[in-house]
Amino acid sequence: MLRACRGKPVDRPPVWLMRQAGRYLAAYRRVREGVTFLEMCQDVDRAVEVSLQPLRLVGTEAVILFSDILVPLPSFGIPVAFNPGPEIAEPIRSREQVEALASPDPREAVPYVFEILRTLRKELEGPQVPLIGFAGAPFTLAAYLVEGAGSKEFSKLKRTMFADPDTLHALQRHLTDWIVEYLNAQIEAGAQVVQLFDTWAGILSPADYRTWVLPVHQEIAARVHRDRAPLILYVKGGAHVLDCMIESGADVLSLDWRVDMARAAWQVGHRASLQGNLDPCALAAPREEILARVHAIAEAAAPARGLILNLGHGCLPDTPIEGVRAFTEAARSLDRTRSETRDPVAPSAPSADGAS
Ligand code: CP3
Repeated sequence: MLRACRGKPVDRPPVWLMRQAGRYLAAYRRVREGVTFLEMCQDVDRAVEVSLQPLRLVGTEAVILFSDILVPLPSFGIPVAFNPGPEIAEPIRSREQVEALASPDPREAVPYVFEILRTLRKELEGPQVPLIGFAGAPFTLAAYLVEGAGSKEFSKLKRTMFADPDTLHALQRHLTDWIVEYLNAQIEAGAQVVQLFDTWAGILSPADYRTWVLPVHQEIAARVHRDRAPLILYVKGGAHVLDCMIESGADVLSLDWRVDMARAAWQVGHRASLQGNLDPCALAAPREEILARVHAIAEAAAPARGLILNLGHGCLPDTPIEGVRAFTEAARSLDRTRSETRDPVAPSAPSADGAS
Protein backbone atom coordinates (compact mmCIF):
# COMPACT_ATOMS: atom_id res chain seq x y z
CA MET A 1 0.00 0.00 0.00
CA LEU A 2 2.71 2.46 0.99
CA ARG A 3 4.75 1.61 -2.08
CA ALA A 4 1.71 1.90 -4.36
CA CYS A 5 0.93 5.35 -2.92
CA ARG A 6 4.42 6.55 -3.87
CA GLY A 7 4.46 4.86 -7.28
CA LYS A 8 7.16 2.33 -6.39
CA PRO A 9 7.06 -1.11 -8.06
CA VAL A 10 4.65 -3.61 -6.46
CA ASP A 11 3.67 -7.21 -7.26
CA ARG A 12 0.00 -6.27 -7.48
CA PRO A 13 -2.28 -3.45 -6.32
CA PRO A 14 -3.30 -3.49 -2.64
CA VAL A 15 -7.01 -3.40 -1.76
CA TRP A 16 -9.18 -1.70 0.85
CA LEU A 17 -12.67 -0.19 0.80
CA MET A 18 -14.06 3.14 1.91
CA ARG A 19 -16.61 2.54 4.75
CA GLN A 20 -15.20 -0.95 5.12
CA ALA A 21 -16.10 -0.80 8.83
CA GLY A 22 -19.84 -0.23 8.62
CA ARG A 23 -23.37 -1.51 8.86
CA TYR A 24 -23.03 -4.12 6.10
CA LEU A 25 -21.03 -6.14 8.68
CA ALA A 26 -23.14 -8.00 11.29
CA ALA A 27 -20.13 -7.80 13.63
CA TYR A 28 -20.20 -3.97 13.30
CA ARG A 29 -23.93 -3.85 14.06
CA ARG A 30 -23.34 -5.89 17.22
CA VAL A 31 -20.67 -3.51 18.54
CA ARG A 32 -22.85 -0.53 17.55
CA GLU A 33 -25.84 -1.85 19.59
CA GLY A 34 -26.88 0.34 22.51
CA VAL A 35 -24.62 3.31 21.69
CA THR A 36 -25.03 6.26 19.37
CA PHE A 37 -22.72 6.61 16.39
CA LEU A 38 -20.89 9.54 18.05
CA GLU A 39 -20.49 7.61 21.30
CA MET A 40 -18.96 4.79 19.30
CA CYS A 41 -16.49 7.21 17.67
CA GLN A 42 -15.39 8.33 21.17
CA ASP A 43 -15.20 4.82 22.66
CA VAL A 44 -11.60 3.76 21.99
CA ASP A 45 -12.19 0.02 22.54
CA ARG A 46 -15.23 -0.17 20.27
CA ALA A 47 -13.67 2.03 17.60
CA VAL A 48 -10.49 -0.07 17.57
CA GLU A 49 -12.51 -3.27 17.37
CA VAL A 50 -14.62 -2.18 14.38
CA SER A 51 -11.60 -0.65 12.61
CA LEU A 52 -9.95 -4.09 12.68
CA GLN A 53 -13.02 -6.14 11.71
CA PRO A 54 -12.59 -5.82 7.91
CA LEU A 55 -9.06 -7.31 8.04
CA ARG A 56 -10.37 -10.60 9.37
CA LEU A 57 -13.88 -10.64 7.92
CA VAL A 58 -13.36 -9.48 4.35
CA GLY A 59 -9.59 -9.54 3.79
CA THR A 60 -8.83 -5.86 3.27
CA GLU A 61 -5.17 -4.82 3.27
CA ALA A 62 -5.26 -1.47 5.05
CA VAL A 63 -7.05 -0.23 8.16
CA ILE A 64 -8.81 3.13 8.25
CA LEU A 65 -9.39 4.84 11.58
CA PHE A 66 -13.02 4.45 12.63
CA SER A 67 -14.43 7.96 13.04
CA ASP A 68 -16.28 10.45 10.85
CA ILE A 69 -15.35 13.62 9.01
CA LEU A 70 -17.83 15.54 11.22
CA VAL A 71 -16.49 14.29 14.57
CA PRO A 72 -14.35 17.44 15.15
CA LEU A 73 -17.23 19.92 14.63
CA PRO A 74 -18.57 19.94 18.22
CA SER A 75 -15.15 21.15 19.37
CA PHE A 76 -15.58 24.22 17.12
CA GLY A 77 -18.82 24.95 19.01
CA ILE A 78 -21.11 23.26 16.45
CA PRO A 79 -23.08 20.29 17.84
CA VAL A 80 -23.81 17.49 15.34
CA ALA A 81 -26.30 14.62 15.52
CA PHE A 82 -26.45 11.51 13.29
CA ASN A 83 -29.97 10.24 12.41
CA PRO A 84 -28.35 8.33 10.60
CA GLY A 85 -27.21 11.17 8.28
CA PRO A 86 -25.60 14.23 9.91
CA GLU A 87 -27.77 17.06 11.25
CA ILE A 88 -26.57 20.46 12.46
CA ALA A 89 -29.21 22.40 14.40
CA GLU A 90 -27.60 25.82 13.93
CA PRO A 91 -26.01 25.98 10.49
CA ILE A 92 -23.51 28.70 9.62
CA ARG A 93 -25.02 31.50 7.55
CA SER A 94 -23.07 34.60 8.58
CA ARG A 95 -19.57 35.99 8.92
CA GLU A 96 -20.17 36.53 12.67
CA GLN A 97 -20.80 32.83 13.12
CA VAL A 98 -17.54 32.00 11.32
CA GLU A 99 -15.65 34.43 13.52
CA ALA A 100 -17.16 32.85 16.64
CA LEU A 101 -15.86 29.38 15.73
CA ALA A 102 -13.39 27.90 18.20
CA SER A 103 -10.06 26.54 17.01
CA PRO A 104 -8.84 24.19 19.72
CA ASP A 105 -5.68 22.11 19.47
CA PRO A 106 -6.86 18.86 17.82
CA ARG A 107 -5.04 16.80 20.46
CA GLU A 108 -7.19 18.40 23.15
CA ALA A 109 -10.37 18.67 21.07
CA VAL A 110 -10.60 15.00 20.02
CA PRO A 111 -8.05 13.10 22.15
CA TYR A 112 -9.82 9.77 21.52
CA VAL A 113 -9.02 9.97 17.77
CA PHE A 114 -5.30 9.89 18.56
CA GLU A 115 -5.73 7.20 21.22
CA ILE A 116 -7.54 5.04 18.62
CA LEU A 117 -4.71 5.61 16.13
CA ARG A 118 -1.97 4.81 18.67
CA THR A 119 -3.75 1.61 19.71
CA LEU A 120 -4.36 0.54 16.11
CA ARG A 121 -0.77 1.18 15.15
CA LYS A 122 0.41 -1.14 17.94
CA GLU A 123 -2.08 -3.83 16.89
CA LEU A 124 -0.97 -3.57 13.26
CA GLU A 125 2.76 -3.80 13.87
CA GLY A 126 2.65 -7.63 13.91
CA PRO A 127 0.67 -8.17 10.71
CA GLN A 128 2.39 -5.12 9.13
CA VAL A 129 -0.85 -3.64 7.82
CA PRO A 130 -0.80 0.09 7.05
CA LEU A 131 -2.96 2.52 9.02
CA ILE A 132 -4.93 5.28 7.29
CA GLY A 133 -6.00 8.50 9.01
CA PHE A 134 -8.39 11.00 7.44
CA ALA A 135 -10.17 14.32 7.54
CA GLY A 136 -12.99 15.99 5.65
CA ALA A 137 -11.77 18.71 3.30
CA PRO A 138 -12.74 22.34 3.97
CA PHE A 139 -15.27 22.54 1.12
CA THR A 140 -17.13 19.38 2.15
CA LEU A 141 -17.13 20.34 5.85
CA ALA A 142 -18.33 23.81 4.87
CA ALA A 143 -21.09 22.14 2.83
CA TYR A 144 -22.46 20.44 5.97
CA LEU A 145 -21.87 23.49 8.17
CA VAL A 146 -23.77 25.85 5.86
CA GLU A 147 -26.46 23.42 4.67
CA GLY A 148 -27.05 21.88 8.12
CA ALA A 149 -27.41 18.38 6.57
CA GLY A 150 -26.67 16.46 3.42
CA SER A 151 -28.32 17.82 0.28
CA LYS A 152 -28.88 17.08 -3.40
CA GLU A 153 -28.29 20.57 -4.74
CA PHE A 154 -26.38 22.28 -1.90
CA SER A 155 -28.22 25.46 -2.85
CA LYS A 156 -27.60 27.22 0.47
CA LEU A 157 -23.88 26.55 0.20
CA LYS A 158 -23.84 27.80 -3.38
CA ARG A 159 -25.88 30.85 -2.42
CA THR A 160 -23.24 31.72 0.19
CA MET A 161 -20.53 31.15 -2.41
CA PHE A 162 -22.11 33.54 -4.93
CA ALA A 163 -23.83 36.08 -2.66
CA ASP A 164 -21.46 36.21 0.31
CA PRO A 165 -18.10 34.85 -0.89
CA ASP A 166 -16.17 36.46 2.00
CA THR A 167 -18.03 34.32 4.51
CA LEU A 168 -17.25 31.09 2.65
CA HIS A 169 -13.63 32.15 2.20
CA ALA A 170 -13.33 32.86 5.93
CA LEU A 171 -14.94 29.52 6.78
CA GLN A 172 -12.62 27.59 4.46
CA ARG A 173 -9.62 29.50 5.87
CA HIS A 174 -10.58 28.51 9.42
CA LEU A 175 -11.11 24.88 8.42
CA THR A 176 -7.91 24.63 6.34
CA ASP A 177 -5.65 25.63 9.23
CA TRP A 178 -7.38 23.24 11.58
CA ILE A 179 -7.34 20.31 9.14
CA VAL A 180 -3.61 20.69 8.45
CA GLU A 181 -2.92 20.47 12.19
CA TYR A 182 -5.37 17.60 12.57
CA LEU A 183 -3.79 15.50 9.81
CA ASN A 184 -0.27 16.20 11.03
CA ALA A 185 -1.28 15.21 14.57
CA GLN A 186 -2.76 11.97 13.14
CA ILE A 187 0.55 11.24 11.40
CA GLU A 188 2.34 11.87 14.71
CA ALA A 189 -0.05 9.40 16.39
CA GLY A 190 0.75 6.66 13.88
CA ALA A 191 -1.23 7.21 10.65
CA GLN A 192 0.98 6.06 7.75
CA VAL A 193 -1.32 7.40 5.01
CA VAL A 194 -3.88 10.21 5.25
CA GLN A 195 -6.97 10.61 3.09
CA LEU A 196 -8.68 13.93 2.50
CA PHE A 197 -12.39 13.45 1.74
CA ASP A 198 -13.75 16.22 -0.51
CA THR A 199 -16.88 14.26 -1.27
CA TRP A 200 -19.00 17.24 -2.41
CA ALA A 201 -16.44 19.34 -4.30
CA GLY A 202 -17.63 17.68 -7.51
CA ILE A 203 -20.85 19.74 -7.39
CA LEU A 204 -18.87 22.73 -8.70
CA SER A 205 -18.20 23.70 -12.31
CA PRO A 206 -14.58 23.28 -13.41
CA ALA A 207 -14.01 27.05 -13.13
CA ASP A 208 -15.55 27.34 -9.66
CA TYR A 209 -13.63 24.26 -8.49
CA ARG A 210 -10.41 25.91 -9.68
CA THR A 211 -11.24 29.04 -7.67
CA TRP A 212 -12.71 27.55 -4.51
CA VAL A 213 -11.20 24.10 -4.10
CA LEU A 214 -7.87 23.69 -5.91
CA PRO A 215 -5.92 26.32 -3.89
CA VAL A 216 -7.19 24.80 -0.66
CA HIS A 217 -6.04 21.31 -1.71
CA GLN A 218 -2.68 22.71 -2.80
CA GLU A 219 -2.21 24.40 0.55
CA ILE A 220 -3.10 21.23 2.45
CA ALA A 221 -0.81 19.09 0.25
CA ALA A 222 2.02 21.57 0.87
CA ARG A 223 1.57 21.72 4.66
CA VAL A 224 0.79 18.09 5.50
CA HIS A 225 3.89 16.01 6.32
CA ARG A 226 3.72 13.97 3.12
CA ASP A 227 7.31 12.84 3.55
CA ARG A 228 6.03 10.81 6.50
CA ALA A 229 2.59 9.83 5.15
CA PRO A 230 1.36 10.05 1.56
CA LEU A 231 -1.86 12.03 0.96
CA ILE A 232 -4.87 10.57 -0.86
CA LEU A 233 -7.44 13.00 -2.27
CA TYR A 234 -11.00 11.75 -2.81
CA VAL A 235 -13.61 13.67 -4.77
CA LYS A 236 -16.97 12.13 -5.64
CA GLY A 237 -18.20 12.95 -9.13
CA GLY A 238 -14.87 14.55 -10.03
CA ALA A 239 -14.42 13.40 -13.65
CA HIS A 240 -14.71 17.00 -14.88
CA VAL A 241 -12.05 18.29 -12.46
CA LEU A 242 -9.41 15.58 -12.81
CA ASP A 243 -6.87 18.09 -14.18
CA CYS A 244 -7.28 20.14 -10.98
CA MET A 245 -7.02 17.01 -8.83
CA ILE A 246 -3.69 16.29 -10.51
CA GLU A 247 -2.52 19.86 -9.82
CA SER A 248 -3.40 19.49 -6.11
CA GLY A 249 -0.06 17.81 -5.37
CA ALA A 250 -1.72 14.83 -3.63
CA ASP A 251 0.18 11.53 -3.90
CA VAL A 252 -2.92 9.48 -4.75
CA LEU A 253 -6.15 10.52 -6.48
CA SER A 254 -9.22 8.52 -5.44
CA LEU A 255 -11.77 8.35 -8.26
CA ASP A 256 -15.43 7.43 -8.33
CA TRP A 257 -16.98 5.03 -10.87
CA ARG A 258 -17.96 7.79 -13.29
CA VAL A 259 -14.33 8.45 -14.15
CA ASP A 260 -12.96 6.45 -17.08
CA MET A 261 -9.95 4.75 -15.46
CA ALA A 262 -8.03 4.33 -18.72
CA ARG A 263 -8.36 8.00 -19.62
CA ALA A 264 -7.50 9.07 -16.05
CA ALA A 265 -4.40 6.86 -16.06
CA TRP A 266 -3.10 8.37 -19.30
CA GLN A 267 -3.85 11.85 -18.03
CA VAL A 268 -2.15 11.39 -14.65
CA GLY A 269 0.83 9.35 -15.88
CA HIS A 270 3.62 9.52 -13.32
CA ARG A 271 2.33 12.53 -11.45
CA ALA A 272 0.20 10.54 -8.96
CA SER A 273 -1.08 7.07 -8.15
CA LEU A 274 -4.78 6.29 -8.57
CA GLN A 275 -7.29 4.73 -6.20
CA GLY A 276 -10.70 3.30 -7.01
CA ASN A 277 -13.00 3.00 -8.74
CA LEU A 278 -15.55 0.20 -8.66
CA ASP A 279 -19.20 1.22 -8.27
CA PRO A 280 -20.09 0.02 -4.71
CA CYS A 281 -23.35 -1.38 -6.11
CA ALA A 282 -21.35 -3.67 -8.43
CA LEU A 283 -20.51 -5.73 -5.32
CA ALA A 284 -24.01 -7.23 -5.76
CA ALA A 285 -22.84 -8.83 -9.05
CA PRO A 286 -21.80 -12.49 -9.34
CA ARG A 287 -18.18 -13.09 -8.30
CA GLU A 288 -17.00 -13.69 -11.89
CA GLU A 289 -18.32 -10.26 -12.83
CA ILE A 290 -16.55 -8.64 -9.85
CA LEU A 291 -13.34 -10.45 -10.82
CA ALA A 292 -13.63 -9.27 -14.42
CA ARG A 293 -14.20 -5.68 -13.31
CA VAL A 294 -11.21 -5.72 -10.97
CA HIS A 295 -9.04 -7.03 -13.80
CA ALA A 296 -10.43 -4.31 -16.08
CA ILE A 297 -9.60 -1.58 -13.54
CA ALA A 298 -6.05 -2.94 -13.07
CA GLU A 299 -5.48 -3.10 -16.81
CA ALA A 300 -6.91 0.36 -17.45
CA ALA A 301 -4.83 1.89 -14.64
CA ALA A 302 -1.54 0.42 -15.92
CA PRO A 303 -0.24 3.73 -17.39
CA ALA A 304 -0.57 5.44 -14.00
CA ARG A 305 2.41 5.13 -11.66
CA GLY A 306 0.45 3.09 -9.10
CA LEU A 307 -3.00 1.70 -8.25
CA ILE A 308 -4.84 1.02 -5.01
CA LEU A 309 -7.99 -0.99 -5.57
CA ASN A 310 -11.01 0.53 -3.84
CA LEU A 311 -14.61 1.51 -4.46
CA GLY A 312 -15.72 4.74 -6.08
CA HIS A 313 -17.58 5.57 -2.84
CA GLY A 314 -18.20 3.80 0.47
CA CYS A 315 -19.76 0.41 1.16
CA LEU A 316 -23.52 0.76 1.66
CA PRO A 317 -25.52 -0.86 4.49
CA ASP A 318 -26.99 -3.35 1.97
CA THR A 319 -23.66 -4.22 0.33
CA PRO A 320 -23.40 -8.05 0.30
CA ILE A 321 -20.44 -9.29 2.32
CA GLU A 322 -19.81 -12.02 -0.30
CA GLY A 323 -19.33 -9.28 -2.89
CA VAL A 324 -16.80 -7.51 -0.65
CA ARG A 325 -14.90 -10.77 -0.18
CA ALA A 326 -14.97 -11.44 -3.93
CA PHE A 327 -13.50 -7.96 -4.44
CA THR A 328 -10.51 -8.47 -2.12
CA GLU A 329 -9.95 -11.99 -3.50
CA ALA A 330 -9.98 -10.59 -7.03
CA ALA A 331 -7.21 -8.18 -6.02
CA ARG A 332 -5.14 -11.09 -4.73
CA SER A 333 -5.77 -13.06 -7.95
CA LEU A 334 -3.96 -10.30 -9.88
CA ASP A 335 -0.77 -11.60 -8.28
CA ARG A 336 -1.09 -14.96 -10.03
CA THR A 337 -2.20 -13.63 -13.38
CA ARG A 338 0.76 -11.27 -13.43
CA SER A 339 3.28 -14.01 -12.72
CA GLU A 340 1.63 -16.40 -15.19
CA THR A 341 1.38 -14.03 -18.14
CA ARG A 342 3.40 -11.01 -19.08
CA ASP A 343 0.39 -9.00 -20.18
CA PRO A 344 -2.56 -8.34 -17.91
CA VAL A 345 -5.43 -10.75 -18.55
CA ALA A 346 -8.09 -9.31 -20.85
CA PRO A 347 -10.95 -8.06 -18.67
CA SER A 348 -13.59 -9.84 -20.76
CA ALA A 349 -11.87 -13.20 -20.43
CA PRO A 350 -10.53 -13.83 -16.93
CA SER A 351 -8.49 -17.01 -16.74
CA ALA A 352 -10.13 -20.09 -15.24
CA ASP A 353 -7.46 -20.00 -12.59
CA GLY A 354 -8.13 -16.41 -11.65
CA ALA A 355 -11.84 -17.11 -11.40
CA SER A 356 -11.50 -20.11 -9.14
O1 CP3 B 1 -14.61 2.62 7.33
C1 CP3 B 1 -14.38 3.83 7.05
O2 CP3 B 1 -14.39 4.28 5.89
C2 CP3 B 1 -13.96 4.76 8.17
C3 CP3 B 1 -14.97 5.52 8.81
C4 CP3 B 1 -15.73 6.64 8.08
C5 CP3 B 1 -17.10 6.89 8.33
N1 CP3 B 1 -17.44 8.03 7.64
C6 CP3 B 1 -17.96 6.07 9.19
C7 CP3 B 1 -19.41 6.28 9.19
C8 CP3 B 1 -15.27 7.60 7.19
C9 CP3 B 1 -13.90 7.75 6.55
C10 CP3 B 1 -16.38 8.48 6.93
C11 CP3 B 1 -16.27 9.66 6.06
C12 CP3 B 1 -17.47 10.46 5.79
N2 CP3 B 1 -18.53 10.75 6.61
C13 CP3 B 1 -17.67 11.16 4.57
C14 CP3 B 1 -16.72 11.21 3.41
C15 CP3 B 1 -16.80 10.00 2.58
C16 CP3 B 1 -18.15 9.74 2.00
O3 CP3 B 1 -18.75 8.75 2.41
O4 CP3 B 1 -18.54 10.49 1.11
C17 CP3 B 1 -18.90 11.83 4.68
C18 CP3 B 1 -19.54 12.71 3.63
C19 CP3 B 1 -19.43 11.58 5.97
C20 CP3 B 1 -20.68 12.10 6.54
C21 CP3 B 1 -21.59 11.04 6.98
N3 CP3 B 1 -21.38 10.21 8.06
C22 CP3 B 1 -22.83 10.68 6.41
C23 CP3 B 1 -23.45 11.33 5.20
C24 CP3 B 1 -23.34 9.63 7.19
C25 CP3 B 1 -24.70 8.96 7.05
C26 CP3 B 1 -24.73 8.07 5.88
C27 CP3 B 1 -24.98 6.66 6.30
O5 CP3 B 1 -24.14 5.80 5.95
O6 CP3 B 1 -26.00 6.41 6.93
C28 CP3 B 1 -22.41 9.31 8.19
C29 CP3 B 1 -22.52 8.26 9.23
C30 CP3 B 1 -21.44 7.21 9.21
N4 CP3 B 1 -20.11 7.45 9.11
C31 CP3 B 1 -21.64 5.81 9.39
C32 CP3 B 1 -20.37 5.22 9.38
C33 CP3 B 1 -20.02 3.77 9.57
C34 CP3 B 1 -22.97 5.10 9.62
C35 CP3 B 1 -23.35 5.39 11.04
C36 CP3 B 1 -24.06 4.30 11.77
O7 CP3 B 1 -23.44 3.30 12.19
O8 CP3 B 1 -25.25 4.53 12.01
